[in-house]
Amino acid sequence: MADRPPPPFAAFRADDVVAAVEIALSPFAAQAAQCTACILAETRTNVVFGSGSARSGIVLIGEAPGANEDAQGLPFVGRSGQLLDRLLAETGIARGDVYICNVVKCRPPGNRDPRPEEVVTCAPFLRAQLEALKPRVLCALGLHATRWLLPGKEAMAKLRGRVLDYRGIPTIATYHPAAILRSPGLRGNALGDLELMREVAEKAAREAGA
Ligand code: URA
Repeated sequence: MADRPPPPFAAFRADDVVAAVEIALSPFAAQAAQCTACILAETRTNVVFGSGSARSGIVLIGEAPGANEDAQGLPFVGRSGQLLDRLLAETGIARGDVYICNVVKCRPPGNRDPRPEEVVTCAPFLRAQLEALKPRVLCALGLHATRWLLPGKEAMAKLRGRVLDYRGIPTIATYHPAAILRSPGLRGNALGDLELMREVAEKAAREAGA
């Protein structure tokens, strides 16, 4: 028999809170759209600042835009994004209720890894996003985002499956969807991590009386 679908996520923030976050984010999005601070500006089509909402208080962070994201100016819209959407839906969370962004806002050519100097140059944007979004829970998708939040050397297999801490914000690390596409055996663990993320967000909402 098929598993029952999870109840829809319902621990939402008030509309005025969500709107205030959007207002706080907009100058940084405008600044990023003009950014030429690193070499990635020379080859990008669009800056991929981030998308979604602060409604749930859940913020997911990936590595860097790929070709589809660069073309559309939106994060996680290619194959990895489609898988992420399915995993979120299986967790009972709609994509439009979370905020999704990347460590680096412009596509590294040929999908190479972002270079350390590009990560450092772009960091003020992610810091500003986290400041504005006031996340209830963070989810780092893959090791690039995990290392940005939690410098260290531990493997994902050791980091995932528990609640970590980034500056007082509960943080879940899990496999990047691209890694799951390459190694489908990781899917079950990633789904468990997103379920944990949901629980943490709901607990934070209860504690905040929201
Ligand atoms: N991979 C990422 O890390 N981010 C995206 O936006 C797309 C693919």
